[in-house]
Amino acid sequence: MSSYDVIVIGAGPGGYVSAIRCAQLGLKTAIVEGRETLGGTCLNVGCIPSKALLHATHQLHEAEHNFAKMGLKGKSPSVDWNQMKSYKDEVIGQNTGGVEFLMKKNKIDWLKGWASIPAAGQVKVGDETYATKNIVIASGSVPSSLPGVEVDNDTGVVVDSTGALELPKVPKKMVVIGAGVIGLELGSVYARLGSEVTVVEYMDAVCPGMDKDVQRSFKKILEKQGLNFIMGAAVQGVDATKTKAKVKYQPKKGGDEVVVDADVVLVATGRKPYAEGLGLDALGVKMTERGQIATDAKWATNVPGVYAIGDVIEGPMLAHKAEDEGMAVAEVIAGKHGHVNYGVIPGVVYTTPEVATVGATEDALKAEGRKVKVGKFSFMGNGRAKAVGQADGFVKIIVDAETDRVLGAAIIGPAAGDMIHEICVAMEFGASAEDIALTCHAHPTYSEAVREAALSCGDGAIHA
Ligand code: NAI
Repeated sequence: MSSYDVIVIGAGPGGYVSAIRCAQLGLKTAIVEGRETLGGTCLNVGCIPSKALLHATHQLHEAEHNFAKMGLKGKSPSVDWNQMKSYKDEVIGQNTGGVEFLMKKNKIDWLKGWASIPAAGQVKVGDETYATKNIVIASGSVPSSLPGVEVDNDTGVVVDSTGALELPKVPKKMVVIGAGVIGLELGSVYARLGSEVTVVEYMDAVCPGMDKDVQRSFKKILEKQGLNFIMGAAVQGVDATKTKAKVKYQPKKGGDEVVVDADVVLVATGRKPYAEGLGLDALGVKMTERGQIATDAKWATNVPGVYAIGDVIEGPMLAHKAEDEGMAVAEVIAGKHGHVNYGVIPGVVYTTPEVATVGATEDALKAEGRKVKVGKFSFMGNGRAKAVGQADGFVKIIVDAETDRVLGAAIIGPAAGDMIHEICVAMEFGASAEDIALTCHAHPTYSEAVREAALSCGDGAIHA
């Protein structure tokens, strides 16, 4: 029987990053993955392909709406949907191939197939059983189902996020159920491709839990881009044929059930942890009430030598949270001090403009009775944003009213997903808004808006 120090189950961002760190720390490591390619949901059917489509359709939007005013005249490009999907597949291939290269480079064995854990210290893949001192479960998540709605990605009428990346053609009418991250990113893609997109959302605001100012501004901007919203609507079911669907919802405020017609329905109402086939029941691994693997502060399950990270445990279902846990658990296994600061995990929506948040929201802090100060700066006052026609949005920084320590931030605007990291670093170092305000920021950059928001926590922004 081959034996390892660590076998990681699942080669998504949590699993493959964990395997690399284990190998770097001198542990003999293998990774189990049943998909044809490495990289998990994120690289194969999630973050990366959606970003390729968001990028391609953003270029189209620019050509259709903004080129002429910059003196770029001529016919806008027409859409070759199959070619766009090939471009996306090429991007996926480069990324998954990159992970395979990294496995080889770090001498990590890829055990191809689906894993089960017959006993602590053993992992079975196909007919082969391997001995291992440690197991890291990084089996991820899958789209959660909605009662009364049957997803069929093959027919392509009622689809989840995976099916939405592979639609045979661009639909005329698309209904998106759920105004969360997936619904808004993929809804944006199809709206830019010319679909009439209607988002049906149970709550009264988009992206539940996000900063309220951002939610309001975000929805307005998306409406300007042509997305329609039906808020406060609980979807009860979908009736589908092979070519069309009817989405039925109940308005929260009461009244009769309403029906909306669609050529394609995207179900984007959340994801659930995935641990099927691992044999966790028989192994006696404790689960939470929400179906996640229960872990302690060092990602250990109740079974000695078995750890779990990423979407399959509690916390936000984000690739970078899984990566951080993957590195940290490797450190723990190697006898070092793995650590993740759950208070500083950014969240990003990759629409145009991007939306990025970190730390606590103003409302949550106020609800706790904390005295806070808020500094806000609009991209209207940012020269660079104006030069590229992306002056919609703002930076908002929330600080402790007495100490000026940064407690959270939200950005809606160009490159928000990159800019948020300045605030993340500030928070990691316990910085004050004044620390950010006293840091020289290059001109002309979008990041100046972060400094201006920090200035407005004190004596005031300059360009407001
Ligand atoms: P989500 O939890 O972000 O949003 C789901 C939305 O569906 C919520 O607003 C909810 O109120 C609504 N909803 C639920 N049931 C409903 C019903 N019956 N009728 C109407 N509305 C209903 O889930 P989403 O967008 O599917 O994303 C899943 C996970 O994947 C999330 O944890 C997300 O963070 C992650 N993800 C992250 C991305 C990123 O970081 N850019 C991109 C894509 C996914």
